[in-house]
Amino acid sequence: MTLPTLAIIGGTGALGRGLASRWAAAGYPIIIGSRSADAAMEAARQLGAAVKGLANRQAAEAADIIVLAIPYTHRDPVLADIAPAARGKIVIDTTVPIVPPKVSTVRMPQAGSAAQATQVALGPEARVVSAFHTVAAAKLQSAGPIEGDVLVSGDDEAARGVAIALVQAAGMRGLHAGPLANSVAAEALASVLIGINRRYKVEGAGFKIAGDLVGTRVADPDPASWALRR
Ligand SMILES: NC(=O)c1ccc[n+]([C@@H]2O[C@H](COP(=O)([O-])OP(=O)(O)OC[C@H]3O[C@@H](n4cnc5c(N)ncnc54)[C@H](OP(=O)(O)O)[C@@H]3O)[C@@H](O)[C@H]2O)c1
Repeated sequence: MTLPTLAIIGGTGALGRGLASRWAAAGYPIIIGSRSADAAMEAARQLGAAVKGLANRQAAEAADIIVLAIPYTHRDPVLADIAPAARGKIVIDTTVPIVPPKVSTVRMPQAGSAAQATQVALGPEARVVSAFHTVAAAKLQSAGPIEGDVLVSGDDEAARGVAIALVQAAGMRGLHAGPLANSVAAEALASVLIGINRRYKVEGAGFKIAGDLVGTRVADPDPASWALRR
């Protein structure tokens, strides 16, 4: 089975590198995107032979699925740059709308959430899904298992399913969390977790849904479903 090519925009950073290393280990072709093609190639070289590096827009054009891993406060020019390449593609947004210095205070954009702002910036043809807000980059960069669930929101259920397969490929359980408007819950929770990390001196506190959830497990991702189109 041919796995989809994933472009990680801002893949030179902490979260992007963590995701790239796990997905590359799971066999996915990865393209690291950066504002600088040289920086992207250097990060890709460090991640291994199956990883390529390109400037953000070229990475988005070359990919089947786009993953956004750039800080909220700096992402608008990058979204404008990649918007034409995002039409018709699944775009997985990891953005927590943190505005320093109050990083543990929940503050949402006017659009409702960062993910909804992303949908506006990329246009209606981008299949925006949001995920990974409550997973620490340090955990993703480590080799071990990661305790915790990942809430996946999006208006396109098939796209959510693809993102859930990618959560599973990265070693966690992904859960359907409803429409894109619900991304506000996971984005807000991320700021709360940052505060918990500080207060209780833990690195990368996670989050988990209690109860026996029927039909969820961390095995058998179905990456073939990436090809589903609206
Ligand atoms: N870190 C975490 O634990 C974590 C957890 C969950 C979600 N997230 C979310 O994941 C996203 C990335 O977080 P991160 O910690 O990986 O961020 P980061 O390491 O600070 O930055 C990621 C990349 O974004 C690009 N970038 C930085 N400043 C920029 C600017 N002024 N303009 C344009 N691009 C810029 C850089 O890529 P180039 O210089 O190569 O272009 C950088 O390598 C954020 O939205 C964050 O909320 C992070």
